[in-house]
Amino acid sequence: MATHRSSSYHSEDGLERAVLDLVRVGTRGHGAGVRQLASRLLRTVPPAVPDPEAFRVALHEAMVMAAGGAELRFTGGAIPTEGDTAIELADVDATPDGDGLVLEPTAMTELGEILDEWERRDDLYRAGVGLSRTLLLSGPPGVGKTMTARWLAQSLSLPLVTLDLSSVVSSYLGSSGRNIKAVLDYAKSGPCVLLLDEFDAIAKRRDDDADIGELKRIVNVVLVELDRWPDTSLLVAATNHPQLLDPAVARRFDRSLELAMPGATERSAILAYAAAGATNTAGGVSSSIRALVADFTEGYSSSDIVRMWSLVIRRAVLRDTNVEDVLLAEIARIGAANSQARDKVIAELHARLGLSNREIAARVGVSHPTVAAALKRAGKN
Ligand SMILES: Nc1ncnc2c1ncn2[C@@H]1O[C@H](COP(=O)(O)OP(=O)(O)OP(=O)(O)O)[C@@H](O)[C@H]1O
Ligand SMILES: [Mg+2]
Repeated sequence: MATHRSSSYHSEDGLERAVLDLVRVGTRGHGAGVRQLASRLLRTVPPAVPDPEAFRVALHEAMVMAAGGAELRFTGGAIPTEGDTAIELADVDATPDGDGLVLEPTAMTELGEILDEWERRDDLYRAGVGLSRTLLLSGPPGVGKTMTARWLAQSLSLPLVTLDLSSVVSSYLGSSGRNIKAVLDYAKSGPCVLLLDEFDAIAKRRDDDADIGELKRIVNVVLVELDRWPDTSLLVAATNHPQLLDPAVARRFDRSLELAMPGATERSAILAYAAAGATNTAGGVSSSIRALVADFTEGYSSSDIVRMWSLVIRRAVLRDTNVEDVLLAEIARIGAANSQARDKVIAELHARLGLSNREIAARVGVSHPTVAAALKRAGKN
């Protein structure tokens, strides 16, 4: 077994040691340590590696890429911390993942426009305009505001720096103006997407006399920063409660995008993406079942759909059954809340999937006569 003191990767278990060391150092976020270990691996390729020369070349390339990569481009030093403590005020994600984002077409178009602006900034400058540097995202919980910031960062190949304003404002109110400023300065120091999440936190407690002074200071810090935000980093603010924001603040953003609850088309697309990612054969979902689920999940947020999918796939694995059956049972359950809706589920299973009464009964978890009666009420039998 690898020991913590391993100094060479020459031994039989060298590869194992190297991986463990990398994980140990990497999970601490110790970038310099990872690079040191990589250099050592370059010198002593573990005997278990089949093609040492190719491994050296690949390792070298990975190191060069990292050196030019986003992670190292911050000139503002380390991530700012709270006072003298080691508590980091912001979260830095060097490889943000926004894959699978589904928004209504107009919202996607607008995001695409932002990417185009960044791509063609020179053309914009020649035309005498700048590009969008700041974006206000609003919308109900679970529609993908945070995910959109990840998607933007990923698409722009930039790291994502996240500052959760609600936690900064609530935990360290006295010093939050200073803390926010520190993170903004950090984010400005290198190209990145800065997400100011739960942005309304700076507006929420305005009636609370004790806090008014500090919150005013914070709002002022943010106002000034929005005006002079550089075009090397994209500032994204996300909020569930845009109406709580001071109009002076809301007006300062270059763009404002409201994300709506997903429609049936979007719900179906989110499900399709989730299902495509399912690794076992039980994961397949036909488009007709997807459409059925989409129809029966009116009022579900995008995040509700993803959560429902996880639940369904877990159940399918545990029960060793196929995921379509579990999905159907789930919409039958949604429908069961009122008998009219259940009738509709039964009628749809009959009409869209052409299932027999017996199959419907088994899938919905009701008796055979109940199915017959429901279909009769629906005028189908
Ligand atoms: N538009 C979307 N397309 C695909 N998946 C989504 C979408 N919105 C949300 N999800 C899923 O739900 C999860 C949570 O969404 P996210 O945190 O982005 O929502 P939010 O709008 O920021 O919510 P909150 O207001 O609660 O912060 C995502 O990680 C993703 O799995
Ligand atoms: Mg969020």
